[in-house]
Amino acid sequence: MTLLLEVAGISRRFGGLQALTDVSFSVEERSVQAIIGPNGAGKTTLLDIITGFTRPDRGDVTFEGHPITHADPFRLPSMGLMRTFQSARLVPRLTARENIMLGGHYLTRAGFWSTGLRLPSARREEAALRVRADAALRFLELSRFADIPASDLPAGTQRLIEVGRVLAGSPRLTLLDEPAAGLDDTETRELADVLRAVKSSGITMVIIEHNMGLVMSVSDRVLVLDAGNRIAEDVPEAVQKDPKVISAYLGEVPA
Ligand SMILES: Nc1ncnc2c1ncn2[C@@H]1O[C@H](COP(=O)(O)OP(=O)(O)O)[C@@H](O)[C@H]1O
Ligand SMILES: [Mg+2]
Repeated sequence: MTLLLEVAGISRRFGGLQALTDVSFSVEERSVQAIIGPNGAGKTTLLDIITGFTRPDRGDVTFEGHPITHADPFRLPSMGLMRTFQSARLVPRLTARENIMLGGHYLTRAGFWSTGLRLPSARREEAALRVRADAALRFLELSRFADIPASDLPAGTQRLIEVGRVLAGSPRLTLLDEPAAGLDDTETRELADVLRAVKSSGITMVIIEHNMGLVMSVSDRVLVLDAGNRIAEDVPEAVQKDPKVISAYLGEVPA
């Protein structure tokens, strides 16, 4: 058993609000770790801390044995750690393929300027990115949308394209913040199939999700946060029956 990600004793305060208190968990290679909890529980803050967008007041994050607590968020993708955001961040004017190509851009050596000037080395790398993007589109069974601008695609397809953008970067670990938000039942089932396929391809995942069906069907372990505290961490079947978890959700209707 290899631990890919270790989160130890994370605390974070925003003004008078203790958003996270001493939260620890670890993620085994090739597993899917869900993070659930009522709105405001601290889930996104925890993801922001793991991915370097927010600094913790206390605690440490270790990825493949390397401390990354103070890492530059824009350098983490080249270490193999990529995320999506709670609100979709596709570039609306760009096609599905072009959006996915953006996910592989940090892998290329040609910088912005040589790409802009269309030097031969940049053109070769662009062609390689295109091949990766087309492979991701085939994997997601979305090839028919390759040339359509993101803004013309349904919400569910945009979400899958976001997953494709992450795949194009060949991450070791991917972190997804509420990927099923705004999706209908059919789209959510498609997403679940895609996430299971991503997992079988060997990518480790951390997924924040409200849809319990999705959480139960894709995750190996579930971390439950409530008001910034870890109240449970176990296999999905155990978490579902845990009285602390059930009472944390009282007053909220789990999807
Ligand atoms: N940058 C910030 N400044 C102030 N408060 C914040 C900030 N980010 C998050 N919070 C607060 O921290 C708490 C946890 O937020 P968040 O991590 O987004 O919760 P979740 O993703 O579980 O819904 C919330 O009360 C939220 O308002
Ligand atoms: Mg959130």
